[in-house]
Amino acid sequence: MKNGQFAYPRGWKGRLAGHLMALTNHGMNQKVMELMNIQPGDRILEIGFGHGRLIHRLMSKSDCSFVAGIDISETMVSQATYLNKRFIQEGSVRLVRGDVCQLPFEGYSFDRVCSVNNYEFWPDRQKALDEIRRVMKTGGTFLLAIRGKNPDAKKMLDRISLSEHDIDEAQRLIKQAGFELLEVSRHDLPFMTGVMISATRK
Ligand SMILES: C[S@@+](CC[C@H](N)C(=O)[O-])C[C@H]1O[C@@H](n2cnc3c(N)ncnc32)[C@H](O)[C@@H]1O
Repeated sequence: MKNGQFAYPRGWKGRLAGHLMALTNHGMNQKVMELMNIQPGDRILEIGFGHGRLIHRLMSKSDCSFVAGIDISETMVSQATYLNKRFIQEGSVRLVRGDVCQLPFEGYSFDRVCSVNNYEFWPDRQKALDEIRRVMKTGGTFLLAIRGKNPDAKKMLDRISLSEHDIDEAQRLIKQAGFELLEVSRHDLPFMTGVMISATRK
C-alpha cells in the first residue's frame, strides 16, 4: 500500500511510525491548536488522530469540554488510548476505530472538527466531507490541515505532500459538501509547509 505505515499504521512498525509522526508533525499539530480558536465548553472531533498527542494537548491546554477521535488503525487507537487514558477514564475523551467516510456519531454533535495530515488517505473525500458536515453543529468550524509541497523537503516527505491542484480540489469539495470557506493559510513549519483550510458549517 502507498505510504503504508503512515496511511494505516500496523503492528510494531506502526507503533514506531506513530512515534515518528508525533515528532515530525509536532509543529503542524501545534499550529492547528492555535488556529482552532477553541471556546470554553466546545465539543471537538479529531479525524485520523494517530499517536493522539493533539487530543492530549486539547484536553490539557484548552477549555474544551469533550474530545472524540476516530482513526482507521487499531494500532493507533491503542497508542492514543494509552496516552489519553486519564481523560478517557474521566469520560472527557472517547476514541474509536473507524473510517472517516462512516462516522459513528449523531448529527449536530461537534462545535469543531479537525483533521491533520490524513486527507490524502481518505478513500472517498466527498463522502468524508459530507459525513463531517453531518456531525457538526450549524456555525461550527472545520479545520483541514494538509502538507503542501516544500522545495526544501526531503524526497520522501515531498512524495506524501499535496500539489496546488489537490489543495484547490480540497477547497472545491469542502464547498460542495455545504461549508463556507473562511480562510486558507500557509505556514513554514519544521519538515513541511502546513496548509490550513478553515470552513464553517452552514
Ligand atoms: C500521517 S498519520 C497523521 C497522524 C496525526 N494526525 C499527525 O498529524 O501526526 C495519518 C493517520 O490517519 C489515519 N487514517 C488514514 N485513513 C483514515 C480513514 N479513512 N479514516 C480515519 N483515519 C484514517 C491513519 O490510521 C493515521 O493514524
